[in-house]
Amino acid sequence: MSANYTDKLSAKHANKFSDFEQRKKAHIDLSLDPRTQAQTASHFEKIKLVHEALPEINLSDVSLETKLLGYQFSSPHFVSSMTAGHQNSKVINLRLAKAAAEKKWLMAVGSQRRELTDSQASFEWKTIKSQSPKTQFVSNIGLEELIQQPTIEILKLTESVEALGIYVHLNPLQEAFQNKDQANFKNGLAAIKKLCKASPVPVLVKEVGYGISKTTAQKLLLAGVEVIDVAGKGGTHWGLLEGLRDQTDAGLLADSSTAFKDWGFSAVESLIQCKALTKKNHFWASGGIRTGVDSLKCLALGARAVGVAQPLMKAALESDQHVVDVMNRFDYELKVALFGVGADSLKDLAKKKVWYVNGTI
Ligand SMILES: Cc1cc2nc3c(=O)[nH]c(=O)nc-3n(C[C@H](O)[C@H](O)[C@H](O)COP(=O)(O)O)c2cc1C
Repeated sequence: MSANYTDKLSAKHANKFSDFEQRKKAHIDLSLDPRTQAQTASHFEKIKLVHEALPEINLSDVSLETKLLGYQFSSPHFVSSMTAGHQNSKVINLRLAKAAAEKKWLMAVGSQRRELTDSQASFEWKTIKSQSPKTQFVSNIGLEELIQQPTIEILKLTESVEALGIYVHLNPLQEAFQNKDQANFKNGLAAIKKLCKASPVPVLVKEVGYGISKTTAQKLLLAGVEVIDVAGKGGTHWGLLEGLRDQTDAGLLADSSTAFKDWGFSAVESLIQCKALTKKNHFWASGGIRTGVDSLKCLALGARAVGVAQPLMKAALESDQHVVDVMNRFDYELKVALFGVGADSLKDLAKKKVWYVNGTI
């Protein structure tokens, strides 16, 4: 191989990584911009909880404890997948990881895509795991990478964080608004099926803010997926966010993304569609969860765990304490909401019908 060729190759990789770093940093900045928070209904306002004025339990007896992926956690709340693989991500992720360990929350990591082409990138997570050994993680990779890369390489991603499971994120519209004409999702279900067969840890599938329909959920469950995180609309909107990054084609992607501001299903809609499936299978919820009352609504609708992304990113940019404070707020609100519907645990909640739809969804 000529020196010239090697130089060109490393320059190509260096450019690719610097584009990647810039994109990831822009994602963080833009996720805090109110214009990227969905302006359309998350539908939480349409779900009414039945207040119990005679709860017959003590608030101090209410427990949020639950088992996820076979392990005990203090809360059904978890850190939803966010960032990785760039200059600022280590500080942010260490804050999230330490707070998750302190609160005994599960933490899903951000996309580990960079590790597939840059062997140094896995050190970021190895370092975080060694500095916060008690944090329990779930890995994360996009469906596009899963389709393109050998399954064995994808499974190696779980090693750096000793993951309890691996999330595959489905983000067709985000990719469409990120890379015009390049969103390659053909053979996606077959790739998921292959991963489920080969993986020693549970495979989880999530959207990134457009929800999952009942038909898609059924296909995923048949393929062997253990957990479906519906990740519905109503929170961070990845179409609008990618649109705001668009500097090309006279704003083609920016303009087009606004036409999709109401696209997809909220977590509430997805959970209601999948109601019959949630009884037997593990459904998790995320997307627009902004209070512990939103969390209770998801749990009452059949979710077993509830993920929070943007509010924790905002806190992680401030300090370690801010992250713990936000986690405490979510847990306290959920605890009071359980008390308010007269349930002392998530098991007790599952036995009661504590919600109704106010109007139409
Ligand atoms: C800054 C940021 C980065 C994200 N990166 C990823 C990612 O790498 N992989 C993924 O599956 N989801 C990613 N997400 C999506 C979230 O996990 C979540 O599905 C979505 O933001 C909706 O939740 P929210 O309304 O609480 O923000 C990211 C979210 C944020 C805010």
